[in-house]
Amino acid sequence: MILPGATLGLVGGGQLGRMFTMAARNLDYRVTVLDPDPLSPAAEFASGHLNTAYTHPVSLEEMARTCAAVTTEFENAPAEALIELARRTTVRPSGHAVAVAQDRTVEKAFFASNGFPLGPFAVIQTREDIDAALGLVKLPAVLKTARFGYDGKGQARIATREQLETTLVDWNGALCVLEEFVSLTKEISVILARAEDGKTAIFPIAENQHVNGILDITIAPARISAALAEEAEDIASRIAAKLEYVGVMAVEFFVVAGDKLLVNEIAPRPHNSGHYTIDACRTSQFEQQVRVLCALPLGDTSQHTPAVMLNLMGELWRGAANETAPDWQSVLRHPGAHLHLYGKRQARVGRKMGHVTVCDTELTTALTIAMEIKTELTTK
Ligand SMILES: Nc1ncnc2c1ncn2[C@@H]1O[C@H](COP(=O)(O)OP(=O)(O)OP(=O)(O)O)[C@@H](O)[C@H]1O
Ligand SMILES: [Mg+2]
Repeated sequence: MILPGATLGLVGGGQLGRMFTMAARNLDYRVTVLDPDPLSPAAEFASGHLNTAYTHPVSLEEMARTCAAVTTEFENAPAEALIELARRTTVRPSGHAVAVAQDRTVEKAFFASNGFPLGPFAVIQTREDIDAALGLVKLPAVLKTARFGYDGKGQARIATREQLETTLVDWNGALCVLEEFVSLTKEISVILARAEDGKTAIFPIAENQHVNGILDITIAPARISAALAEEAEDIASRIAAKLEYVGVMAVEFFVVAGDKLLVNEIAPRPHNSGHYTIDACRTSQFEQQVRVLCALPLGDTSQHTPAVMLNLMGELWRGAANETAPDWQSVLRHPGAHLHLYGKRQARVGRKMGHVTVCDTELTTALTIAMEIKTELTTK
């Protein structure tokens, strides 16, 4: 067990890292953040900031020497850096598990070979692969780069064969996955923590609504049947076990044809759809990440209040340089609404700037208030 007072390392220093760092600092751990951004949102709360590339040997050496354990908040941080760190210190989750989530082709192969339910897909790179791919996947489809995508980036909707050809050329022969565009009944996610001994704690399932490939709102608990929830939890736990995963992870699911589950992807870290746990569960996903990293007993994941989380995107900021923040009165006047801002100095379209979690004893009331806040923020 790594006890309070120790120093923890964090590879990546965005908003997920910021919330991890706050949870860790609350337990009196020190946190060293490795992130090339001098304005890293996590570094603001950290006790140290290694402000270099993720693979910088001097930073990795420093982190290995001073940190009792290291985790990550960002799957695009190189798995090699985690594997290198693991030679000298405890790393959770392992670089090998992160590597699976880092590359969509590896991830799909992992799901397929272990019998996890997937929608139709094909691996594709050049025009020579098109015939075979279209034999497996019907159009319309979504083309996704194998690596470095997030928040809908590195994705294109494909309606025709010509579009597929030109997009592959535009992307300079990047390795891709082509997925059939499935008709979604809804989207849900399971966030769990799995400890070294295999003990697993699962948060109440989140129901997610996306706009342009980016999470817009999360409703928790998800409005699904107990049977579907149980099936999703079972699949997510089996994925974690197969990966010998230690840490917090999210499994995103598509619900199709009413009640059929398809695995979309995994995130080897806390997840945007789990932000509601901060205000609505007995343990937050970030405290859970600290606990599992330090081999402390897992916290109680039960939810005490229904909640709706609303992402605050850069487009809500006004002015020529997006310098004017929204009128926070729209949020703050609701006593059950909790405002979380990530300390990002520059607002940009598509950039996650913060979130609001509305808690209420009635989920329908939380949803009504969240929609009211959203309307006010976008129109005022
Ligand atoms: N094959 C598909 N069929 C239907 N909708 C899809 C498909 N693939 C993606 N989407 C939609 O786009 C969203 C984002 O896709 P995906 O999860 O692959 O992207 P991402 O860039 O990894 O996003 P994030 O990092 O936010 O999870 C999905 O949650 C879903 O709403
Ligand atoms: Mg996703």
